[in-house]
Amino acid sequence: MSDFEPTIIAFVCNWCTYTAADLAGTSRQAYPQNVRMIRVMCTGMVDPQYIIKALLEGADGVLVSGCHPGDCHYINGNFKARRRIKLLKEILPRFGFEPERLRLTWIGASDGIQFAETMRELVAQVKTLGPSQAKLKMVI
Ligand code: FES
Repeated sequence: MSDFEPTIIAFVCNWCTYTAADLAGTSRQAYPQNVRMIRVMCTGMVDPQYIIKALLEGADGVLVSGCHPGDCHYINGNFKARRRIKLLKEILPRFGFEPERLRLTWIGASDGIQFAETMRELVAQVKTLGPSQAKLKMVI
């Protein structure tokens, strides 16, 4: 399983984490190529259906990342996201996915280094979990 390269879908807030990703790139902070970023205006608009759909369609891990609590540009979108992700982690096993495949982080616009570190950690963690069950079923 050592050649397994996970596919990570990252829903990132336009104002914070997307900017941090941009900063990581311009600062030449290396991070794995496994991440497919989807820019959203706020983590509060990430419907749990998007996350489940991503996992069912073959993502090995999903990241939702936005502004730190208190910094959301839409006042409380990240608090809504936090509540949704907490509940979603509880029901993910019913879909056959380990809760560790889903992560919520707060990465501010100036945290390019933290963004790169988070991506490296997440990819390493998902590698230890192995391919998602949905992906295995697609191959068969
Ligand atoms: S605007 Fe960034 S999480 Fe709401």
